[in-house]
Amino acid sequence: MRFVTNSADETVALGEKIGRLLRGGEVIAYRGDLGAGKTTITRGISLGMGLGDEVTSPTFALVNEYHGDKLSLYHFDMYRITSAEDLETTGFFDFMNEDSVIAAEWSENIEDELPEDTIFIELRRVSDDVREIIITGDDRFEAIGN
Ligand SMILES: Nc1ncnc2c1ncn2[C@@H]1O[C@H](COP(=O)(O)OP(=O)(O)O)[C@@H](O)[C@H]1O
Ligand SMILES: [Mg+2]
Repeated sequence: MRFVTNSADETVALGEKIGRLLRGGEVIAYRGDLGAGKTTITRGISLGMGLGDEVTSPTFALVNEYHGDKLSLYHFDMYRITSAEDLETTGFFDFMNEDSVIAAEWSENIEDELPEDTIFIELRRVSDDVREIIITGDDRFEAIGN
């Protein structure tokens, strides 16, 4: 699936549609540079999961947690994670269960540790306000349309 958004709000709206389709148990791996919109789309995903829009960058905390009645969202920043041992200490594997969604920025760093059914969201900055967003690894998002 390929999407183009023309503003941060449009990316939040796309994230919201993605979030509504999540059931728990998913790992979302972002690919994309600084400023591509990884945190912005996560804000939408949180909204779509019913967890609110108070999503901030996990850069300093490494992982930010958002909890609802049924689902939780674990938003990781893997920028400084460079080994499987590092990853182990973040709780990444402990948080992986049927009631949680993991969304990881800088997933390039943990590529070898990602589960087989990982959902990949690649974000690319086309211009100041335009982003190309490509989702692979799961057909269900075709329901979003274009
Ligand atoms: N179409 C767009 N989608 C997402 N963000 C956009 C878009 N256009 C402009 N922006 C801006 O780009 C920046 C993206 O930042 P952020 O989501 O923190 O990126 P990342 O987490 O990938 O570093 C924000 O300042 C946002 O307002
Ligand atoms: Mg970010």
